[in-house]
Formats: sequence, structure tokens, C-alpha cells
Amino acid sequence: MKTILSGVQATGKLHIGNYLGAMKPWVDWQSKGRSYYFIPDLHTLNVRPDAKELRDQVLDTVAWLLACGIDPDKSIIYVQSRIPAHAELCWILQNYVTMGELTRMTQYKDKSSKRGAEGQLVALFTYPVLMAADILLYDADIVPVGEDQQQHVELARDIAMRFNNLYGSIFTVPQASLPQVGGRVMSLTDPSSKMSKSDPNQNGNIMLLDEPDVINRKVKKAVTDSGSAIELSDDKPAIANLLQIYSGFSDMSMADVGKKFEGASYGTFKSELSELIVDQLSQLQMDYGVIRHDLKRLEQVIREGSDKANRVANKKLDLIKRNIGLIG
Ligand code: ADP
Ligand code: TRP
Repeated sequence: MKTILSGVQATGKLHIGNYLGAMKPWVDWQSKGRSYYFIPDLHTLNVRPDAKELRDQVLDTVAWLLACGIDPDKSIIYVQSRIPAHAELCWILQNYVTMGELTRMTQYKDKSSKRGAEGQLVALFTYPVLMAADILLYDADIVPVGEDQQQHVELARDIAMRFNNLYGSIFTVPQASLPQVGGRVMSLTDPSSKMSKSDPNQNGNIMLLDEPDVINRKVKKAVTDSGSAIELSDDKPAIANLLQIYSGFSDMSMADVGKKFEGASYGTFKSELSELIVDQLSQLQMDYGVIRHDLKRLEQVIREGSDKANRVANKKLDLIKRNIGLIG
């Protein structure tokens, strides 16, 4: 049986890129193997979040996982900081990765270049090593992520192979899995940049908690390309993005969506698109509202998931320690 593992950060509110690129495919994966889904709160410390906000947002994110259909009876849901083995393995793995490899990570280059001198934190630099520990501790075969995280999963693969060459088959070598659609949902106001929580222009994002009129307004204002045809083509990145979103929410292929709207005006397409998004998000929002208020249930899901994860992680960490000569 395959092991599937992924994490979503509890930084701010989630958008439809997070949903289509991460959480929705996770729901499909949970029937295909043993799945682990977690909130990497130790990773989030590199933005120095407010303590209360971080605690609340971890609960928000767990509630979203449940609302989207991640089922605690099928998947192990946990919070990273409750599993001390992640940080311990991260320390160990730092001895098997070079400064050069970490310097080449595009997300590091991107994020560090946007921060001033005081934001150049060691934890931002070593972030991919902690992510490798997250993955390797559970012998994950498949790591479903959006495109932006693929390079980090490849680094985890390299570390696993390096380690296995030295000590025998200790780690499963993981593989990233990108969703067929929704792997890179772009901003509605700038189709050349990814929809992101940290985008200062919030009109480019559709947040999972957006009200219907906000969604309608954002879709109506979404930039389009020159010409009027609705078709998949390299010189129509804005339309391709909207087709991708329609496809993600409708489960129709991009080609079928293209066919459905052949000859339609941008206006008609946009109004059907916002209707579809509103329809799907209202159901999710309703479920989210109920789950988020049930603190007892949320605590229980986290506690039970973290207990299970601790058992798996501690066993693996013991094996690693024995093989590298730590008395432990
Ligand atoms: P953000 O960049 O908005 O802060 P995160 O880095 O927390 O989002 O990403 C959480 C998950 O959602 C990851 O698996 C990531 O690959 C996916 N993801 C983030 N943005 C997008 C997007 N625009 N399109 C598709 N997937 C995305
Ligand atoms: N770095 C990922 C992100 O920002 C979150 C993450 C942390 C993750 N550890 C992971 C994803 C392990 C998959 C597997 O989105």
C-alpha cells in the first residue's frame, strides 16, 4: 500500500489555489493509500506570526481540511509541532545537505529577496531540510503538492538517496505528484504570477471564505486576453487560467470546458464561472462554519492524529539513530 503525505501551512486565509492545487487532490488520494496530512506550524514560525493568530489559524486550517472532505477515519491529520521527531530528524539531515543545494532553492531566493536584512533567518534557509524530515519520517511514497513545492520534494529525494547509499535502505524515496489541473492557479489580476496569500493585491485571489458578491466582482474584473475567443492557447494565459479554475471546480477536462464555451462571450463564460465557484464554495463554507465552532471535535482530531503520527515517527527516528551511531 502506498503512503501519501502532504502539508498546508496555517498562514492567513486559504484561497482557491490552495483548494484546487492541494486539498481537493488530497481528498482523492485518501482512498488510494495510507495518507498523512498535517499543518507544518514549525515552518510557519519563519514569518514570526502572532502567537494567538498562529494558534487560531492552525484550528482554521484543520477545520478546512475536514470541510473539504479529509476524513480522520481514513487519514491521519496532525500538527507538526506535536511530533518532536520532525525537528530532531531535521537536525540530523542537515548533515547530509550542502549550503549550495539550499541556496539554489527558488522559493528561498524568492522569499529572502523580498525580506530585509532582519528577515534573513536561518530557519528560512533550512526550511527545505525540515520539509525533507516531514516527508522521510513517514516513508512517504507520494507527496501531492502544487508546482511551487516540487523542487523541495526533489531535494528530499536527493537526501533520501544519499542517506540510503551510506546506511542501506533506510528511507523510502518520495515522489512529488502534481494535480492534473489546478497545480498552479494564477492571480486573476496578473496571470503571470501565482495566486498567493501573500499577494498584496487581494483582488487577484478568491478566498475560500469570500462572499458570493465578492466572488462575482472578482471574476467579473479578472483580466482577459486580447481577442474574444475562449480557447486554450499559449498566448491566452488569462483565459487558460479561468478555464483551469472552471475545470478544477467542475471536474471537467480543460478541453471539454473549452468546447462547452466555444463561441460564447467572455461575459457569459465569466458569469457561469462565478456561479460555479459560488455554488461549490457555499457548501464548503457551510460545513466549515459548523466544524470550526466545534472546538472539542477539532482538538480530538488533532490529538488522535498526533498520537498516531508520533508512534510512526518515533519508531523511524529510533531506526535512523541506531544506524548513524547515536546511542539515543
Ligand atoms: P501560498 O503560496 O498562498 O502561501 P502555501 O505555500 O501555504 O500557499 O501552499 C499550500 C499548498 O497549496 C501547497 O501544496 C501549494 O503547492 C498549494 N498552492 C499554493 N498556491 C497555489 C496556487 N496558486 N495554485 C495551486 N496550488 C497552490
Ligand atoms: N512547504 C509546504 C508549503 O509551503 C508545506 C509543507 C511543509 C509540506 N512540509 C511539507 C508539503 C511536507 C508537503 C510535504 O506549502
